[in-house]
Amino acid sequence: MSFTKQEVIDIIRENRDELDPKLRLRAHEERKKFYGNSVYVRGLIEFTNYCRNNCKYCGIRGGNVNVSRYRLTKEQILECCRTGYELGFRTFVLQGGDDPQITDDEICDIVSAIKSEYPDCAVTLSIGERSRDVYKAYFDAGTDRYLLRHETADNGHYNKLHPKEMSFEIRKRCLYDLKDIGFQVGAGFMVGSPYQTDENLAQDIMFLQELQPHMVGIGPFIPHKDTEFKDFSAGTLNMTLVMLCITRLALPKVLLPATTALGTINPRGREEGLLCGANVVMPNLSPTGVRHDYSLYDGKICMGDEAAECISCLGKRVETVGFKLDFSRGDHCEM
Ligand code: 5AD
Ligand code: FES
Repeated sequence: MSFTKQEVIDIIRENRDELDPKLRLRAHEERKKFYGNSVYVRGLIEFTNYCRNNCKYCGIRGGNVNVSRYRLTKEQILECCRTGYELGFRTFVLQGGDDPQITDDEICDIVSAIKSEYPDCAVTLSIGERSRDVYKAYFDAGTDRYLLRHETADNGHYNKLHPKEMSFEIRKRCLYDLKDIGFQVGAGFMVGSPYQTDENLAQDIMFLQELQPHMVGIGPFIPHKDTEFKDFSAGTLNMTLVMLCITRLALPKVLLPATTALGTINPRGREEGLLCGANVVMPNLSPTGVRHDYSLYDGKICMGDEAAECISCLGKRVETVGFKLDFSRGDHCEM
């Protein structure tokens, strides 16, 4: 169903203190219609924490001198995929900062290497803003999907979260280019980010309804000690769940992860997310040695866990709420 901005604002107000079980149930029923009790698994490979940008909320922003920087080699990335493939993963998400040192040819080369070794797997990139031609080159190299959260669909709010070189206009242009080229596209936003209003959240839903992305990443904002937002409070579990429910209802077939950030603010956050329409989990396949250096926010979970431990932990968690891990590619359903 399609919501008006005012309808979203009303739902937010009505559910602010406590999520109405009826809303949760509606979202749950909607997800079951298209995806049954499947929860898709994506292997996340955080392959570089170098970043040219300075998003004000992000722990690995280029200006943070306290981060020890790393970049995985192509061989190391392929090794992560090998581990993941043996564990059953059929989607690999290569996520990184906007690394000024990696060339587009190198990215294409990494993607084609993964696709030729694992033709039955989907490859997702999440490395920020590029020109349309560069996105096209990534697509031609075999990239199936691209994640680029819009962060907030309000210009003024976007400017409060980002340095002046960045703008929502550019972000939006990137998302439409990606869609037009043929990627399965993921947008998304943080809940409870500094200066966010109910109106802003309603605008996020309006933007999603307009863009019609295949995936939407939603997680609570969590402060990081080395950012100017260090003293702001984190987004709440409740409001994140409300936004997951609304997103599932607005985009019934969307792929919606129960994010690591949600698991970080509450030990049962991801399970709660799954009960509110989420249908994807993204365990970490990065080598454990570099995990601590990819800290976007404080307190991130699963830092020390090998992929195998993570997946068995997640399998159990998912079962406690009546779902089953599904290791297929988990493409956006087109029925
Ligand atoms: N808290 C929560 N999420 C964050 N992200 C970046 N920094 C934070 C933070 N402090 C999210 C952004 C980004 C994604 C990779 O992680 O939405 O798009
Ligand atoms: Fe990673 Fe539980 S999901 S350890």
